[in-house]
Amino acid sequence: MTVPKVLFVSHASNVSGAEMVLLDVAPAFRDSAAFVFERGTLANELAKRDVPVIASKYGSGLDSVKRDSQLVGAAPLAGQMAGIVAELSFAARRFDVIYANSQKAFLLGALASALSHRPLVWHLHDIINKAHFGDAQRRLQISFANRFAHLVITPSSAVTTAFVAEGGRAELARIIPNGIDLTVDPSPKAVLRQRLGLPNVPLIGVFSRIAAWKGQHVVLRALAKLPDVHCIIVGSALFGEDRYEKSLMMLNRKLGLEQRVTFLGQRSDVPQLMQAVDAVVHPSVDPEPFGRTLVEAMLVGTPVIATDTGAAREILNEEATFVRPGDCDALACALRSVLSDTGRVGSEALAKACERASTTYGVGAMQTKIAEEVCLATNSAPR
Ligand code: GLC
Repeated sequence: MTVPKVLFVSHASNVSGAEMVLLDVAPAFRDSAAFVFERGTLANELAKRDVPVIASKYGSGLDSVKRDSQLVGAAPLAGQMAGIVAELSFAARRFDVIYANSQKAFLLGALASALSHRPLVWHLHDIINKAHFGDAQRRLQISFANRFAHLVITPSSAVTTAFVAEGGRAELARIIPNGIDLTVDPSPKAVLRQRLGLPNVPLIGVFSRIAAWKGQHVVLRALAKLPDVHCIIVGSALFGEDRYEKSLMMLNRKLGLEQRVTFLGQRSDVPQLMQAVDAVVHPSVDPEPFGRTLVEAMLVGTPVIATDTGAAREILNEEATFVRPGDCDALACALRSVLSDTGRVGSEALAKACERASTTYGVGAMQTKIAEEVCLATNSAPR
């Protein structure tokens, strides 16, 4: 199997879940490169992994086109986008295949693929439905996928099902779950808390970027009903969700939670923080395409309370507690139970979850499967 030369494409300059996957996938393809719309953390991290980076001259500010916006909103940026398509088609001539890692990268990558006669892979990290995208965006994504894509990689059957339900061709899609490797700290919880400056009280954690659909507000409302419970909120507003972040802070004050809720921002020690809390809450109010933090929590042996939507049931098992999305009463009730002596999740169930996560979600396995599928798609594509 000759490994194709891949041109990875990402619109994002920051690193969130989808970009973490890219950082694991790109280095597995020798002689490949990444085309980014804008320089930033992602470009720096790719370079650290020896992936050559090509940065667009026209890409800055494209983040302002929201995923649920009308297409007319993007019209003033048409010149910029045309510039990117031209740059991409030129760059793609040195590669065998274009691999789009985000929705905007896919749409522009599709045009570049047609112009450069290179096959196109879409690593689809989103659930294409009404909750996440506007009508015009959904129609455009699906028609481009059906017309231009040779392969659509998805991380879960929740993503594939939504893609097909919107009219995407089922035969394009392959489910390859995200791979996550992490090192577990052997220190006991109390030691970790001391080291991390966390209080020795009932403590929960929320780990995701700050965004309305990630549901941090529901956790605050649940905490208002649990006067003894403290919480750390890890993550920041990476993709223009500043208004929501402000409203979250205001809600925190209004509910009188300032002494119990700590916003820690973006952190590089997520596994240790997860190990240090009594439960990880995954409160997404709209369907979550995968949810890397679910796997991370399993790997470090911390119980999870997750909303019952998206891929959560594919990943979690009996060790987890499921609640209805957006239901702060149900969340408070579940937290009360998991934090109590009687409702505490047993160590055997947690060990099983850890075992399942490490056998199902290895980075190596993900890289191998993606390489196989990309090879097949590239070799069978007409030139
Ligand atoms: C996106 C999704 C998230 C997933 C990640 C990696 O960030 O929102 O659910 O874990 O991509 O696929």
